[in-house]
Parts: sequence; C-alpha cells; structure tokens
Amino acid sequence: MPARLEIEGGVPLRGTVKVSAAKNATLPAMAAALLTAAPVTLGNAPDLADVRTMTRLLETLGGTVSRRPGGLSVQVAGVTSDLAPYELVSTMRASVLVLGPLVARHGTARVALPGGCAIGPRPIDQHLKGLGKLGAEIAIENGYVIARASRLKAARITTDLVTVTGTENLMMAAVLAEGTTVIENAAREPEVVDLATLLTAMGARIQGAGTARIEIEGVAELRGAVHRVVPDRVEAGTLIVAAAITRGDVTVTDLVPDHISSVLAKLDEIGVVLETGPTWVRARGPERLRPADVTTSPFPGFPTDMQAQVMTLLGLADGQSRVTETIFENRFMHVAELARMGARIETDGAIAVIRGVPCYQGAPVMASDLRASAALVLAGLAAHGTTIVSRVYHLDRGYERLEAKLGGLGARIERRA
Ligand code: EPU
Repeated sequence: MPARLEIEGGVPLRGTVKVSAAKNATLPAMAAALLTAAPVTLGNAPDLADVRTMTRLLETLGGTVSRRPGGLSVQVAGVTSDLAPYELVSTMRASVLVLGPLVARHGTARVALPGGCAIGPRPIDQHLKGLGKLGAEIAIENGYVIARASRLKAARITTDLVTVTGTENLMMAAVLAEGTTVIENAAREPEVVDLATLLTAMGARIQGAGTARIEIEGVAELRGAVHRVVPDRVEAGTLIVAAAITRGDVTVTDLVPDHISSVLAKLDEIGVVLETGPTWVRARGPERLRPADVTTSPFPGFPTDMQAQVMTLLGLADGQSRVTETIFENRFMHVAELARMGARIETDGAIAVIRGVPCYQGAPVMASDLRASAALVLAGLAAHGTTIVSRVYHLDRGYERLEAKLGGLGARIERRA
C-alpha cells in the first residue's frame, strides 16, 4: 500500500522551521545543465521525488547527477540521447523543460507530449510556438514533439499567455541562439529570475528577468556554475498557513518575504498576525479567522500553488469567502476531500464559495495532486481527531521532509507504510 500520513489534529504549532530550496527553481536549473559540458552545482537542491525524476531524465540524456550533502551537481559532458521518454514525462510534466536546452545545444530533441494531469489539460503550445520562432522545425509524431535546428536564431516572441515553464524553456533556448531574442509577456515568477541568475553565472547575457520583457543576447557557449537555488515560496506559504490554522506561533526562516507578499497580504486580511524580517516571517493564528476573497493570477498575484492551502484556512473563517482559480481548469480536487472533513464548499466552474465552519473533523482522505495534498495535511493539523491522508507520494514530489518539519513544531504526524 502506498504511504499514508496519520495526523492527530488540534495541536497549536510552535517554534522555528526552515524553508528548503524551491522545487520549481531546482527543476529548470537542472535542465539548464544540458546547455554546457561543464558541471552545474546546486548547493542546496532539495531532496524530492520530482528532483529524482529529473535526475533519471538527465541520466537518460547522457548526464551524470551526483548527490552531495545538501545539494547536487549535474554534468552533461556529452548529450548521448535526445529522447525524453513518455514514462518520465508522464510522471512529471516539468520534464518538458529539457526541450529548449536540448535543441539549443544538441540540435535535436524528442520529448513526449505531457498530456493532461490532475489539475487540467496544460498544453505546451506556447513552448512550441516560441521554439518555432527561434527557427526550430517542430513536428508531432506518435505522441512526441520532435524539434530540430542547426543553430537557433534570435526572434521576438510574444507569448499568448503567461507561462512559467514556457518562459524558462524559451530563455534556455535563446541563450545559445544567434542574435538578441526578446520575450514579451514573459512570466515574472521568482523561479524565472533564479534561472536567469544561474544562466548568467554560466555566461549567458540576459536582461529584464522578473519583468514582462526579457532580452537575451545569444552566446556561442556556456560554462559551468555553482548556484544556490531560491527558497521555496510555496513551502514557506504552506508552513505559515500551518501556523495560522492551528492557532500556533511559528517563525518560518530562510525565505524571501517579497516572494510571498500577495499571500501575506491575504493572510493579514484573514486576521493572521504576521511579523516580517529580512529572511523570516513569524505567524500567529488568531482566535477568529475572517473570510476573504482570493483570485489566483501570475506573479506577483496570488499564486495558484497556494490556493488549496488558503482555501482550507478560509474553510474555518467566520463567514463566507470566495476563491476564483484563473490559472488551471481543474484545481479544486481538494474540495470533495475537505467536505469529508466537514468543510462547506460549493464550486461552480472556476469559483468556489466557502462557508466557514467552526472546526474540521478528522477523516480518511485521499491526496490527488501536490498542493491538494498539502491542503489535506493542513486540514488534518486543525481537525478534531485523526486524519489519514493516503497517496502522499503526491506530497513527496514537492515538499522536503514535510512531516519531520511539522513534527519539529509539535504536530502529531506519522508516516505509515
Ligand atoms: N498554458 C497553455 N499553453 C502553454 C503553456 C501554458 O495554455 O504552452 C496554460 C496552462 O495550461 C495553464 C496556464 O497556461 O492554464 C499557466 O501555465 P504555466 O505554463 O505557467 O504552468 P507550468 O509552467 O506548467 C508552473 C509550475 C506549477 C505552477 C504553474 C503556475 C513548475 C515546474 N511548475 O507550471 O507548479 O502551478 O507554473 O504558477 O514550475 C506545483 O508546483 O504544484 C505546480 C503545479
């Protein structure tokens, strides 16, 4: 039977907890190692299932990945295969991040189309359209994207929508293209900025990362680099909500408060007592949580990756809240499971109306995707009685030692095989 988490709810969390490096910055940073024959060292890469999947993928392409204390090093001395197989891409959509760097360095790439996932169809048309503009020939054959180019050529690309991994893929392709590429309507997420920082350390010339217009002057070759990955803002937000939902008092450290300002502003509105330092946030849960309306949007807006966790908090607020999910079509999978714990939430398309209840009751629940799993753990921490969250492999994809971190704050949480 896959592992489960058993949580005895009702303990206010107390203490200090450190945030790990961001999954969504580590995965593109690992893919960026495909752009050079020299090693790329990520001193603080987290130990996560998705990082292990990216490791397997880079190994199938000819890379070696060595785990070192607290981090890892990737070297792709030579690309020996251009095939990102369906078995890997279907377990982790972020595998598509190898597409841009493979075409740029190796001249060809065959990457399985990711298809749908639990949170929606998630196409990659913007990645392909952008690569096409950079001069790659793109074909779809038997469920695979086949991309070819002798040398990519700079282009002006305006994406039709804001896409995080799309922006990252195009940035990684453009760094080795001939001439100066401009990406308009680029994603402004901190993970995009972190990738630009790494690529710059590797010798790339990039301006404007963190704004909607990124300019990349192509270079002939990149070198290796040593990089520290940006802190995980979603883990930070999740831990802050854990403090709030248990009416605890927790200081979350090693984070960048500016990366979660939209989340902090919303939590403040809900009544969470927050104190912010340069690299930490202290959060205390109030007796009474106020309702609030939340709409997800690209950075610096409220992140879709925090929607399920904050909805879980709003489920205990004194009144009615409304959550609108604008990024993914099907990201309310946690709602039916929260209902099993006593939440009163109704959804209509992209909108969820939440009528606060005084408490959740422990129940067996099932995780469906990464952030939905985190939401169920949060509900379990607050609930009366025992909650068993099954299918925690979803959680293990993106949270490093979450139960150990929560246990360190006093939570009664155990992993059962
Ligand atoms: N989209 C398209 N065409 C494209 C690309 C995206 O229609 O070519 C759509 C998507 O279907 C979605 C929206 O655009 O509706 C935004 O998707 P985006 O491409 O920004 O998402 P992503 O790059 O696939 C990353 C994170 C996600 C996070 C989203 C949004 C990584 C590895 N993944 O996904 O993280 O939710 O950005 O911020 O960076 C998670 O960590 O739990 C997670 C799902």
